Amino acid sequence: TGCFTYDPGLMETATCQSGITFLDGDNGVCCYRGYPVDQLAQHSDFVTTAYLLLHGDLPTPEQDIAWRRELQKYMVVNTRLVEFYRSFPDGAHPMAQMNSVVGAMSAFFPVSLDPNDKEQHITAATRLIAKMNMIAALIYRTDKNKSVIYPRQDLTYAENFMYMTFGDCTLPPGVVNHDMETFKLVAKAIDAFLILHADHEQNASTSTVRIAGSSQANPYACVAAGVASLWGPAHGGANEAVIQMLEKIGRPENVPQFVQDVKNKKDGVRLMGFGHRVYKNFDPRAKYFGELVIDVLDKLGVEDPHLDVARALQEAALNDPYFVERKLYPNVDFWTGIMLRGIGIPTNMFTVMFALARTVGWISQWKEMVEQPGLKITRPRQIYIGQPIRSM
Ligand code: CMC
Repeated sequence: TGCFTYDPGLMETATCQSGITFLDGDNGVCCYRGYPVDQLAQHSDFVTTAYLLLHGDLPTPEQDIAWRRELQKYMVVNTRLVEFYRSFPDGAHPMAQMNSVVGAMSAFFPVSLDPNDKEQHITAATRLIAKMNMIAALIYRTDKNKSVIYPRQDLTYAENFMYMTFGDCTLPPGVVNHDMETFKLVAKAIDAFLILHADHEQNASTSTVRIAGSSQANPYACVAAGVASLWGPAHGGANEAVIQMLEKIGRPENVPQFVQDVKNKKDGVRLMGFGHRVYKNFDPRAKYFGELVIDVLDKLGVEDPHLDVARALQEAALNDPYFVERKLYPNVDFWTGIMLRGIGIPTNMFTVMFALARTVGWISQWKEMVEQPGLKITRPRQIYIGQPIRSM
């Protein structure tokens, strides 16, 4: 009953007005505040891009310096929060750890519900973006039973991620050359990854953050809800799933059989890293990253057999009517998994890095929402399919 529009997956419903990210799925366009993401990945860095997303415009040189100083002020994670990591069972999923620690921040940093207190919103956003780097790194350190490493002020955001995760100017395990040039190259690739994942309109996790925030909940708790939503393989877990898929396929010769299994929907298997709710032509992030990955792995001298499998798979799918008719193209995660693996990031850290980047989008969208006049709690309706009213 009820005269509601049935829209499973909210495919036909705009749930908000936003001035942050523009997507044109038919033409493969993705812009942050009007700037194409590939331009930002080429000419900007993650910290400046974060300022753009949060504030609406690129910073002046003075604003950029002040923003970096503010982030530095908040980079270190509270010792009592660090204690949390020691309480997790061995092998706890990294996203479970991130979800718990970010959620716990709400206990450490209460925020008033005054929509006019923009200062407080900025502080919450700055604190989250700054601390998320160490929060992510600590997951790896704890897993490997290694001591805590604190951020350095002379390093960029991406360099600090590597430093706090892997140690003093060393690189992820697997990278052969441990010189400064290689360190900078890997950090630049991570920076591009962070920029391309910083926001993406009303995806599942961002919508989750907005829904949680629409009840005026604490922003750290809202971002923890976003982490939970990102965890799944249909969303943030996709790049990890891509690697598992490539490993399963093993060799380019096995690609045709795998593609056939996907088309037959054998055991519900999908081509991971393919398809997108919005992009029905190409994903501009995938285009940029696909080229970058080859360049970086080439410079690093990494020979990954999975790259050949990925290329064969892409070729097969792009020429197969099944995928063409359904408008299924590689999405960004098809390539990011290969890049992250190539530069030595452990597979179980992939989604954590996605969350690190998307924190900027989540908190920018939260801020935009709570500061818009007439905030309404998000409360969808349903089509009831249960029992009719009956007597006991
Ligand atoms: N492999 C094979 N078939 C697919 C795929 C795929 N990856 N994606 C969609 N299809 C088919 C699906 O079976 C259906 O065909 P049919 O009508 O015959 O049943 C048709 O295409 C439409 O699928 P859908 O599930 O209704 O499409 P959606 O818009 O709801 O799903 C998606 C979008 C991203 C969840 C889906 O394409 C998918 O599961 N992709 C693989 C996972 C993945 O790579 N996720 C990362 C998305 S990008 C990163 C992000 O933004 O989080």
